[in-house]
Order: sequence, then structure tokens, then C-alpha cells
Amino acid sequence: MAEASVFEQAQVAVEYLRPQLPEPLQKPRIAIICGSGLGGLANTIDAKTKCEFDYGSIPNFPTSSAALLSDALVLQYDMYLVPGHLGKLVFGFMGSDIPAVLMVGRAHFYEGHSMQKITLPVRMFKLLGVETVVVTNACGGLNPDYAVGDVVVLNDHLFLAGVSGAHPLRGPNAEEFGVRFPPLSDAYDLELRRTAHRAWKKVVPAESKRRIHEGVYAFCSGPSFETRAECRMMRMLGADTVGMSTVPEIIVARHCGMRVLALSLVTNNCVLSPAPRGDDRLLQNSTAKELNTIVDEGKANHEEVLETGREAASDMQKLVSQAVVDMFAC
Ligand code: HPA
Repeated sequence: MAEASVFEQAQVAVEYLRPQLPEPLQKPRIAIICGSGLGGLANTIDAKTKCEFDYGSIPNFPTSSAALLSDALVLQYDMYLVPGHLGKLVFGFMGSDIPAVLMVGRAHFYEGHSMQKITLPVRMFKLLGVETVVVTNACGGLNPDYAVGDVVVLNDHLFLAGVSGAHPLRGPNAEEFGVRFPPLSDAYDLELRRTAHRAWKKVVPAESKRRIHEGVYAFCSGPSFETRAECRMMRMLGADTVGMSTVPEIIVARHCGMRVLALSLVTNNCVLSPAPRGDDRLLQNSTAKELNTIVDEGKANHEEVLETGREAASDMQKLVSQAVVDMFAC
């Protein structure tokens, strides 16, 4: 039997969810995909109205090894930020009366899922009636002006995997959602970006060391972090940040005609300097330990990403909560 189309798969998931939701939550207006530092947003939803579903219980929903808590570090992170929510789809009201659905944790391409699979939740959101998707992530900073802990409002992307064929819209076009050749020159909604900057001014004190920027995100499939040469290449091509998520979801959301706001938290600075050379005259008498210290400078590590996420969680949460309220204010 032929595999069900993405439309049919999303429809099955929605038919499972909808009858279990109270009427006002059956048509959420906004969907938020919570990356590092943002899962705690689920705690801001009124417990009385909250409806939660384990990813594993929803037909066709992609599950993540991280979301299933197999990773000890993620477990530690989860306890700090999102007690009980990681790997859950959470429905409820934000800002008192905005029906919302939050995805706490996401499946990644690097886990072995197809691009079609990791973006299925976005198609489900469309079928539920969602108009706007907010996507958040942790990223590496390529722009030397960015500091760890800063927030970046994305205004464009580089999708090298997509350019070379790993694209979520590859294959028969899902006509139910959108056109064969969707434009992406307007992918990152200008009005929503303006709303995000204004919301930041309202919730983050002017004297805060944390800054907000606007920039371009480069998608890398991972799971390895990028080499120095790859980082330099992406910087030269115009990227400000790099990460392993978000872009496939954005493309599918735009294909479906939803508005998109994407926010990145800089959790580490990428190493852009060329690798030290083995024939460097100054290094000829260095001990192996000294050489290791030189090479390790600035090296990305998962713990650093998680720690920054913890520290910035509160500002990111305040930013998203305020931006959502402002989006629906008029
Ligand atoms: N590269 C890719 N993904 C990331 C990074 C990075 O440096 N930091 C957080 N996610």
C-alpha cells in the first residue's frame, strides 16, 4: 500500500487531538515550537485550561530521543526549565485568552528522521487552524558582534542542505497546503519582527547586558558542530548564526501560508579563526598539554549550550509571552 501523504498523516493526527480538546482550544491561533531556553513557557499557561499530549501518543507525530529524555543532560535541563513538559504538545491560553499550542522539544533531522517527518507538526498546526508560528532555537554565533546569551530575530536563512536536495517540500507537492514553488523572499514576517523588537523593549531592562539583534540563520544538519572552515564559509556567505533546526519548519509553515516569527538564542560563539598549524615555529617546543589548550579555545560543547539556555530562559520567555500578547492586541 502506498504511504499516506503528508496531508493524510497530519489529518489523522488532528482527528486524534481535536475530540480531546475543549471547544475554544480546538482552533489555536498560535503555535510555538519551544527550543532551548523556552520550554518553561508551558508553565505560564493556566493549569486549569491546559491539555497535554505526549508526542508518542499522537499518531504520526515525530518523537525525539531528546524529547524522550534518553539524554542525561537534556534530562537535567528539563528538570530546571520544563518540569514535566518536555516531549509534550501543550494546549492552553496565553495572555489570558489567546488559544495556543506549544511544542516543548522537537525532533531533529540529525536524529535520522526525514525532513517530511520533522515538519509534520507544522502541517498539523495548519489543519488545526493556526495562523502564526513562533519558532525558537539555540544557535552558535557567527557574527563577531554577538555575545553568548544574546537573542537574534531571524530575518533570513541559508539552507545549504535544502539547496543540495534535503528539502522538506521535495517530492509530490502537497496541494492541500500550498503551491509547488513557494517564494521565500518574505519568509520572516516583517510586522512580527517589529513586534518582537518592541516587546523586547517592554520586558528587558535597558541596562541589561543581553542584547537583541536581527540576522541570518544558517542551517547545518548536525549532529557534529561545524568546523572552523565551515564557520568561516557560512560567515562569508552572510550568515550571522548557525543551528540544526528551525529552517525546515519555517519553509513548511510558509508553504502552508502561516506567518512566521523565529527567535534564536546565542548559546556559544563559533570558532572562526583558522586551525593552528603544525608547522608554526612558535609551537615547536610546546608540550602536548599546551597544544591541547590552544586547540580547545572556543570549542563548542553541549553543556555550554544548555547552561546558556538556563540563564537566558527567563528573558526569552518574557519576550515570547509579550510578543504573543502584542500580536493579538488589536
Ligand atoms: N552549531 C550548530 N548548532 C548549534 C550551535 C552551533 O554552534 N549552538 C547551538 N546549536
